[in-house]
Amino acid sequence: MEKHRKIAVVGSINTDMVVLSERIPLKGETVYGSDITYTPGGKGANQAAAMAKLGAEVEMFGCVGNDGNGRNMLENLKKNGVGTEHIGILDGIPTGLAIITVGEQDNTIVIIAGANGRVDKRYVDGIKERLKTYDMVVLQHEIPLDTVHYVIEFCSENGIPVILNPAPAAKVPMEIVDKVTCLTPNEHEAGLIFGNDIPTERLLEKYPEKLVVTQGSKGVSTCLKTGEVLTVPARKSQVVDTTGAGDTLNGAFALRFACGDSIHDALRYANTAAGLSVEKFGAQSGMPSAEEVERALVSC
Ligand code: RIB
Repeated sequence: MEKHRKIAVVGSINTDMVVLSERIPLKGETVYGSDITYTPGGKGANQAAAMAKLGAEVEMFGCVGNDGNGRNMLENLKKNGVGTEHIGILDGIPTGLAIITVGEQDNTIVIIAGANGRVDKRYVDGIKERLKTYDMVVLQHEIPLDTVHYVIEFCSENGIPVILNPAPAAKVPMEIVDKVTCLTPNEHEAGLIFGNDIPTERLLEKYPEKLVVTQGSKGVSTCLKTGEVLTVPARKSQVVDTTGAGDTLNGAFALRFACGDSIHDALRYANTAAGLSVEKFGAQSGMPSAEEVERALVSC
């Protein structure tokens, strides 16, 4: 029987302000948008929601402002079954905001950190005992980087597996790379961390079953412990909105990996979940259930 896994996410919580446009404006250009929507987002909250929708027991750690957006984001997490008990509600600073333009089957995102920028070492000191009760911790780069590294050091000292999704792109010190269980950059983020002079295949071979590189519509690659480089192709999807697809992939991968799936099976599952998520609008509203993923896996 499959093991039950408890997963913690330490990361960002945003309100996404999404503008639908026929195309993404060029530098200096003005274009018309057809609609504007406010939806739940933030890479941390998205990954937590993805896992909860797939049936995991998940708790979200982070901060929101003491404002309407913060209250809505907490409500949404609860509605998705994500634990919110330790989320800080801060006075005098707004909830994180992402300004997203969706068009041409792609997007651009500008984030305003707000309360996410206050997820500091002091906050982490207050949740350390709680973190020790989790089987895995999942992190991204939308809270201060020194906090991300502090959590990783703590998890490493306490034998807690960590998945780091280094998005948005920022350098990761090699001693931190050594301490994570899996690192899941896209090609651009991998270039920033490891340099652009080494081809992706060679890089994957250096970190078997630890480095997972996502390549958008091309799929996702890793190197198996046997030395074979494995690419799981992306699912063919009717794309409506790609926002949150990477978060769905990371959440689904973290969950299946924590449950003991082989890296191949976990990536196949995660890719299918991400492929389903792009067929609906919104970072979280398109995230599939476990049944939907299972059905899609059978039919492909
Ligand atoms: O990965 C997508 C997310 O990035 C959006 O939900 C937005 O909030 C930004 O954090």
